[in-house]
Amino acid sequence: MRSEYQHLIDLSDYPVTWWKRIIELGEKIKNDPSEYAHVCDGKLMATLFYEPSTRTQMSFQTAMIRLGGKIIGFDNPANSSVSKGETLKDTTKIVSSYSDVLVIRHPIPGAAKAASLTAGCPVINAGDGGHLHPTQTLTDLLTLKIEKKTLSGLTVGMCGDLINGRTVHSLCKALCMFPDNKFIFISTPELRMPAYIKDIITAHGSTFEEIDSLEEAIGRLDVLYMTRIQQERFASREDYLAQKDTYVLDHQKMLLAKKDMIVMHPLPRVDEITVEVDDDSRAMYFTQARYGVFARMALIMTILGDKKTSETLIGKTYNSVKCDNPNCITNHEPYLPKSFRSSGDSTLLECEYCDERKLI
Ligand code: ASP
Ligand code: CP
Repeated sequence: MRSEYQHLIDLSDYPVTWWKRIIELGEKIKNDPSEYAHVCDGKLMATLFYEPSTRTQMSFQTAMIRLGGKIIGFDNPANSSVSKGETLKDTTKIVSSYSDVLVIRHPIPGAAKAASLTAGCPVINAGDGGHLHPTQTLTDLLTLKIEKKTLSGLTVGMCGDLINGRTVHSLCKALCMFPDNKFIFISTPELRMPAYIKDIITAHGSTFEEIDSLEEAIGRLDVLYMTRIQQERFASREDYLAQKDTYVLDHQKMLLAKKDMIVMHPLPRVDEITVEVDDDSRAMYFTQARYGVFARMALIMTILGDKKTSETLIGKTYNSVKCDNPNCITNHEPYLPKSFRSSGDSTLLECEYCDERKLI
């Protein structure tokens, strides 16, 4: 299925050269933002946030305003006609007819892709459930490029809620496209990285290790990417409480780290990094959030400037087949075509909206 617009649902839909172009532009904007103050004069961006956000929403809004454009949108669907039962399709169809670019965050995996099928302007995925968060990844790549001066040859530790953390899913998919990156996944057995992400890493020739102990891993890392335990994605409060407070980065653990390791975190932080670490020159998370504005300015300029079309669904439509993920957008918005890709394994189909695998 082809769309007249260039959407950003998953960075993997684009060649690495496209991401590099955005990162290079992000660096230029950082060095001289005033140069770009009018490139989006007369343009309008809509932000539809069905889920809470501080950084993503406000950095997108800041980015558009700093480019000379204007913004509309909601940050609480309860105050919109979503509360009257309006479908995602109708909401995005209407709002995209008012705007030049639509940024959507939604609690359900696949929602941004679903929105892109019928939107009348480009759609940007600002986080779809526990699935992906590609614009956080652009922010993270820009941070690595500026602070580590490279996107290759890095040993990257990811710690915390790796099963539900959409930021680490998107970041792994991106970093394994650059040579010689190694991953050390630090989590409890219950919160390990999903199998499909590990398969992508292996398929691209990168390596990963899975361990339980942050103390054991930290000394080997160039980058430590901490994550919050995603309370809102757990089936029960008991399950969440069993995982809460397992990993806390503090001054003592920072003593074990390399002098030039950097600490990243998409934020918000709950208690997985103690405030004393904020004063360590290796703590990069607040800087990372600031770079998010430059990454998003570069993305908006690229999406609005390129005027390209994109493929929305590339798989095969099987309308009688149901995605096995009860939380997939196709199980919430029944009008959506059920589309599956064939995976490397001929006995498996992958849902094109949420990447859930299904045995056939
Ligand atoms: N803000 C990030 C996200 O929306 C990380 C988090 O919420 O923990 O995915
Ligand atoms: N990093 C990030 O997505 O933060 P918010 O959830 O506050 O937008």
